Amino acid sequence: STLTIAVLVGSLRRDSFNRRLATALARLAPGDVEFRQLEIGDLPLYNQDDDANPPAAAQRLKSEIRAADGVLFVTPEYNRSVPGVLKNAIDHASRPYGHSAFAGKPAGILGVSPGAAGTAMAQQHLRNIAAYLDMPTLNQPEAFIQAKEGLFDDDGGIGPASREFLQTWVDAYVAWVRKHSGG
Ligand code: FNR
Repeated sequence: STLTIAVLVGSLRRDSFNRRLATALARLAPGDVEFRQLEIGDLPLYNQDDDANPPAAAQRLKSEIRAADGVLFVTPEYNRSVPGVLKNAIDHASRPYGHSAFAGKPAGILGVSPGAAGTAMAQQHLRNIAAYLDMPTLNQPEAFIQAKEGLFDDDGGIGPASREFLQTWVDAYVAWVRKHSGG
């Protein structure tokens, strides 16, 4: 059946490599799988005082995640960890306690960096978060992508050097979501 994947991009930068990667990955998905990038740039800083009356942007984010069959995180690494903008979005959608939008949602994690370590440490931190949020998370294949010349083709797709690998990754993630969302 048709699947919707909520995509959280951990960068607000206009020409973000991670946003470009998320957009290009969507094109590798089968026709009945929609990758929907969610807005997180309009969320205020999370404040637990507002749990009884969360900001509208947080309520919207939670309902979009709830409506999705899976959650794909595509994130840069900031200071060897998860960027604050993404952590803030995760904190919003995980609260109030007992009312997280993430529980049980099959997760995928990848990211791109100009650095050779390719977001490995940010991804590892995100795995720790996803475990606490009770998200079944795809372990293999891992995807640590370096932003090099030719990663993207002129059309905004994945360039030839990485296309086969990322197709394998997307296929594995879509199969993972189907397995954990009942088809
Ligand atoms: C970075 N960058 C970075 N890169 C990395 O591989 N490991 C790191 O720990 C960091 N730390 C870091 C901190 C801060 C505050 C910034 C702004 C940047 C570089 C980062 O990978 C680069 O700016 C990417 O282009 C960010 O991803 P987007 O915005 O292109 O998706």
